[in-house]
Amino acid sequence: MKPIIAIDGPAAAGKGTLARRIASTLGLPYLDTGLLYRAVGRRVLDAGGDPADAASADAAARSLRPEDLDRSDLRGPQADAAAASVASIPGVRAALLDFQRDFAVQDGAVLDGRDIGTVIFPNAQAKLFVTAGLSERARRRWLELRGKGLEADILTVEEDMRQRDAKDAARAAAPLKAADDAYQLDTSTMDAEAAFQVALAFIRTRIGMI
Ligand code: CDP
Repeated sequence: MKPIIAIDGPAAAGKGTLARRIASTLGLPYLDTGLLYRAVGRRVLDAGGDPADAASADAAARSLRPEDLDRSDLRGPQADAAAASVASIPGVRAALLDFQRDFAVQDGAVLDGRDIGTVIFPNAQAKLFVTAGLSERARRRWLELRGKGLEADILTVEEDMRQRDAKDAARAAAPLKAADDAYQLDTSTMDAEAAFQVALAFIRTRIGMI
């Protein structure tokens, strides 16, 4: 069976950069599961609905199409907040479950998110929980926004992120938390290269691949 690698953690911890590189190094497909929640949130906003309303969010999740993930407006403060709102609704999570499991069924996969190691793939061969201190994560997200030409106040970025992490961790449905058997990788003082090397070494101990 092809390996499944779960990479979870709070906002802007470096999961995406790490997961993408692990996937290309090991020749596995990669899925950014945050995009699914972002796309559902965006669909609700497009329809003039409230992302916290279960009926609107459920309907948007059930009618999600692959092309919704390619939209260019899935990042930024409004999309972040809408994603976290729809993500706390159990019907939304249920509607997105099969898509995530089917994605990995044939060739294995690297998936990043909040509940990959706890709910989506509790039997994943390798699980990482990637963290970094709040101010460092805010700095990284702020640089990312600036790189896209978006002006942002770093303290607002930090406060938005603190609130979103708190909401993700406190929700009843698949809260953000490390699986018991996850390798905890604190990247606060690591650059992307160092985090990649540590993660790859751990994954090799679990799956014995190149
Ligand atoms: O890029 P960033 O780490 O800021 O966020 P993301 O991974 O794109 O996720 C956006 C939001 O979607 C999170 O704040 C969660 O509320 C939700 N999410 C989730 O609940 N479960 C996942 N597997 C992935 C994302």
